Amino acid sequence: MASVLIIDDDRGVGTILQEVLSAEGHDVTALISAEDGMRYIKVDEPDLILLDLQLPGMSGIEFLEKIQDKRDRIPVIIITSHGDVQTAVRAMKLGASDYIKKPFNIEEIALIIQKVLDTKIKDEHLAYLRGKDEISEHEKIVGESSEIKGVFQFIRYVATTPKTTVLIRGETGTGKELVAKAIHYSSNRAKKPFIEINCSAFQESLLEAELFGYEPGAFTDARHRKNGLLEIADHGTFFLDEIGDMSMGLQSKILKVIEKQSFRRVGGTKEINVDTRIISATSRDLEKNMLDQTFREDLFYRLNVASIYIPPLRQRNGDVLLLAEHFLRIYNTEFKKNVQGFTDEARNCLIAHSWPGNVRELKNVIERAVLFETEKIITLRHLNVPRKEIGHHAGENYRSDWLELPTDGVSLATIEKELIQKALIKTNGNQTQAAKLLNISRETLKYRIRKHRIVRKDQRT
Ligand SMILES: Nc1ncnc2c1ncn2[C@@H]1O[C@H](COP(=O)(O)OP(=O)(O)OP(=O)(O)O)[C@@H](O)[C@H]1O
Ligand SMILES: [Mg+2]
Repeated sequence: MASVLIIDDDRGVGTILQEVLSAEGHDVTALISAEDGMRYIKVDEPDLILLDLQLPGMSGIEFLEKIQDKRDRIPVIIITSHGDVQTAVRAMKLGASDYIKKPFNIEEIALIIQKVLDTKIKDEHLAYLRGKDEISEHEKIVGESSEIKGVFQFIRYVATTPKTTVLIRGETGTGKELVAKAIHYSSNRAKKPFIEINCSAFQESLLEAELFGYEPGAFTDARHRKNGLLEIADHGTFFLDEIGDMSMGLQSKILKVIEKQSFRRVGGTKEINVDTRIISATSRDLEKNMLDQTFREDLFYRLNVASIYIPPLRQRNGDVLLLAEHFLRIYNTEFKKNVQGFTDEARNCLIAHSWPGNVRELKNVIERAVLFETEKIITLRHLNVPRKEIGHHAGENYRSDWLELPTDGVSLATIEKELIQKALIKTNGNQTQAAKLLNISRETLKYRIRKHRIVRKDQRT
């Protein structure tokens, strides 16, 4: 559905077009002069204008000239009469999208209008995707572990059910966005827009305006109509990233969209139907948010129709090196380098690390390493992995999740003291080695030993 403005001084033409286009589901306004048209588009920007060139007063050509600054947003189709070829040519030069000859054929008009509107939607879509048409190296999902194979299976499955709502969960950097795109591009919605919005990046009213669009006058700055992203995502996929960060108010509005498959623009009264698959993602604990009453339970059940948990990288056996090689290839190409691989030490370090930032962290580490590597092979020196992990052996790896914060809290000072004591016991009181284990300087360690009044067991008595 589009809003169409007709400007033709022949009321008969206006009425016929209005009837035909309304029947096609468009929202039509017919005016009889270019002056009226100018006034109209000052307050409301239609999706399309049908313009007669021969008008009393301001001519169609003058009108086109006057709206030059809006031309990339509002396509104009010219209505010309026989023998007026030259004016039509001038109009096309001024940026008119197409033309219709009088007397016209209704079916032809419907086709031309659809073509122009499709191009417009495609342009908007492209503006969002920045011209992206196919999956790039950066969007490939790499892995051979049984964990990631389960994810592939899920993608293949939900790709065949293009109406099913999908919820993707997992720690930060595990590839949730990548999976959302893979689902879209392997479904029959692939040729339609994939529109994503990050719910944590906007404040509520802005997010609402982005999602639903608005009518002129809906708020102070709303001078023109703006289509919502949901409309642009029609027949495509709508990806709500960081859904756990969405405000309660918007949650209930999104819930309505899912239930009714329609919505209203901000300040609008008309229901706009959309056919879009909603995929949402979060790294938050939604069950906990529901208990805290910061996430609506009814929305959760609507979103959670098909859901997948993407396992953290540390649980994907064998994938780390595969991914490392994959990123090495990507950044060799990007930085025009020819780094051949990793030293054994570097490999072991990659395997031993627990990757709390998951694939994103690994990707960043390899990017840096390739960028700064001057040799043909990546050495430990260029892997910027937290130092305390380097040189550790299996079973001693640092894990970000080994500590649980007790519900009734804990004393940080006590934990610090205990860790220092443990380090000293492990190193038989060697302060230099203990400081290394704790990744602090010897001076700092000495200061903390004094602060916590730590004494060696054999010195106590
Ligand atoms: N299996 C994979 N194969 C190749 N690249 C991957 C894989 N998983 C993730 N990546 C890459 O890692 C980076 C992070 O992935 P993505 O943005 O999809 O994670 P995310 O789960 O959405 O993270 P966040 O929760 O922080 O938004 C991206 O650059 C992505 O291309
Ligand atoms: Mg993400």
